[in-house]
Amino acid sequence: MLVILAFQPLLVVALLVALIPALLVARDSGHITFASYDMTTADGRRAAYFDGLLMSDAAAKELRLFDLAPWLLAQRQAYAQRVIERRLQAAWATSKGFVMAAVVSAGAQYLALAFVAYQAVTGRITLGDFTMLATALVVVRQNLSQALANLGELLENSLFFGDLERFFNFRPKIATPSAPRPLPSIEGYEFTFEHVAFTYTGAPSPVFQNLSFELRAGEATALVGVNGAGKTTIVKLLTRLYEPERGRILLNGVDIREFPLEDYRAIFGVILQDFVRYHLTARENIQVAKVSAPPDLGRLEEAARQARADEVIKSLPLGWETMLGRQFDEQGQALSGGQWQRIALARASTGTPRS
Ligand SMILES: Nc1ncnc2c1ncn2[C@@H]1O[C@H](COP(=O)(O)OP(=O)(O)O)[C@@H](O)[C@H]1O
Ligand SMILES: [Mg+2]
Repeated sequence: MLVILAFQPLLVVALLVALIPALLVARDSGHITFASYDMTTADGRRAAYFDGLLMSDAAAKELRLFDLAPWLLAQRQAYAQRVIERRLQAAWATSKGFVMAAVVSAGAQYLALAFVAYQAVTGRITLGDFTMLATALVVVRQNLSQALANLGELLENSLFFGDLERFFNFRPKIATPSAPRPLPSIEGYEFTFEHVAFTYTGAPSPVFQNLSFELRAGEATALVGVNGAGKTTIVKLLTRLYEPERGRILLNGVDIREFPLEDYRAIFGVILQDFVRYHLTARENIQVAKVSAPPDLGRLEEAARQARADEVIKSLPLGWETMLGRQFDEQGQALSGGQWQRIALARASTGTPRS
C-alpha cells in the first residue's frame, strides 16, 4: 500500500473507492443471513418436531393405528421446504451482492494495472517500478477484500452472538434467596396454603383465587376434583415449580421461599401423569432421581421394593443393567405401562430423604 501511495497516490484512492460496494455488501449480507435464520427458526423447529414424531417409538403405535406417517411426512416437508426457500433467497441475495462487489473491485484492479502498464510502456516509470507496483496492486486488493469479507463474517457472527448473550442473561425467576434458612429436620413436615391465588401466564382466568388448607404430618391426603380443577397446579406450587401470585405456602410456619431451592425440592417424591420413560438401564431409570449422590445400590433396591418394582426388575434378562425401551438398543426391554409406573414410583421414592 505504501509502495503504491509513494508512486501513485491517486491509484490508492481509486482502489479504496472500488471497495465501497464490497464494504456495503459485507454490512448487508450479515444482516440478510441472520434474518433468514431468525425467520426460519420456528418453521425449522416444527419440521424437527415432525421428524421426532416420525422416529419416536412412543408415537410408533398411534402412527400405525391412524396411518399417520404420510400426513406427518407431508407436514414435515412443507415446513422444511419453507426453511429451504427462505435460506436460498438469502443466499441468492448475498451472492448477487458479493459477485457485483467482486466485479467492481477486480475491474478497478485491472484498470489500475493497465494504467501502470501504460506508464511503463510510455517510459514514465521503469520496468522495475512497474513490476513492483503491479505486484503491490494485486496483493493490496487481495488483502483488502479478504479483510472486508472477514469484517462481514464478524458482523454476522456478532448478530448471532447477541442472541446468545440475551439467552445467557435469562435468570430463573424462582431461585434460592441470598440468605436462605436451613430446612427443618425431616420429622413432621406440615404444609399450609394461606390464601393462595395463582394464574398461569397468559391464562384468561385464575386457577384459584383464595386457597387455604393444611397438610399435616403422618396423614395421607387425597385431593379430588374434576379435570382442570387445579390439582396438579397445587403440586406444582407446593414443589416450587411455580410461585403463588398472592398468599403464602408455609412449611412448619416458614414461607417455603426462604429455603434453599434444591434442598426444598429434594424433600418431595413426585410422580406426574406424564412421568418420563428414560431410555436408560433400569438402574439408571431409578438413580436419576438422585444423580448428585454417589450410587447406592442398597438404597435403589429398597426403593424398588417399596414401589414393588423389584419384581419387574428381577424378571428382566440383565436385571438392573437391562436397557429399558428400544430407542437405542434392540436388546432393550419394552415395559408395560404399569411396569413403567412402578419404575417411576421407585424413582420418586429414591429422590426423597429417608425417614
Ligand atoms: N402450564 C400451563 N399454562 C397455562 N395453563 C395451564 C397450565 N397447566 C395447566 N393449566 C390450566 O390450569 C387449570 C388447572 O390445571 P391442572 O392443575 O393441571 O388441573 P388438574 O386438576 O386436572 O390437575 C386448567 O384449566 C389448565 O388448562
Ligand atoms: Mg392433573
